[in-house]
Amino acid sequence: MLISTSFLSSKNPPRDLKLLDETDTDFIHLDVMDGKFVKNKTMPFSEMKNIYKYTTKRLDVHLMTEDSSNYIKDYASLNTEYITIHIESNNVKENLELIKNYGIKPGLAISPNTSLSEVVPYLPLIKQILIMSVEPGEGGQAFIIETEKKLEEAKILVEEYDLDIIINVDGGINDKTINYCKRADMIVSGSYIILEDNFQEKIDSLRI
Ligand code: DX5
Ligand code: ZN
Repeated sequence: MLISTSFLSSKNPPRDLKLLDETDTDFIHLDVMDGKFVKNKTMPFSEMKNIYKYTTKRLDVHLMTEDSSNYIKDYASLNTEYITIHIESNNVKENLELIKNYGIKPGLAISPNTSLSEVVPYLPLIKQILIMSVEPGEGGQAFIIETEKKLEEAKILVEEYDLDIIINVDGGINDKTINYCKRADMIVSGSYIILEDNFQEKIDSLRI
């Protein structure tokens, strides 16, 4: 299982990114919020891009943004493997194509109240399904147990059509809730890792 570490809850992103660089986390999960799609707003790209000097890890970018095209253009210029947009955002098809045109793997996120079946029309365009296990918008929330069923459905869908798509799950993941995520190929964990001293120890405890 791949691990993507979110530093949304970090009190000191440069320090924590340097420390994460010494761990075996597979990706850095970069949450972007616009204050419209979700209430909170993350720092502007002009600041964000300076922070990425502190990591050599590939980025797994999660856009919680209403109009994503400008964000895609910006984040495509970093060391980015995936850019994921929300199915509940605007111009989904155009933006997935835009991500692909930048040579980056497109991902599609679904919020807890969105059914997995909504993803089906976009399957040929994506490389990642990001299943939200909390409401998007902030770190440190409790994992929604029903997510386990959605992960199972997603796994069946991907296997049935033999798709080259990874299943990722984001929000509230710790050494207990990881047990509901066995069907995922990748998990995002933030506060469980970042608010503790020994990042590698926490990461190891999620590799079940
Ligand atoms: C929530 C974000 C998550 C979050 C994960 O909107 O998309 O990536 O930061 O952090 P934890 O593990 O604290 O829920
Ligand atoms: Zn996220």
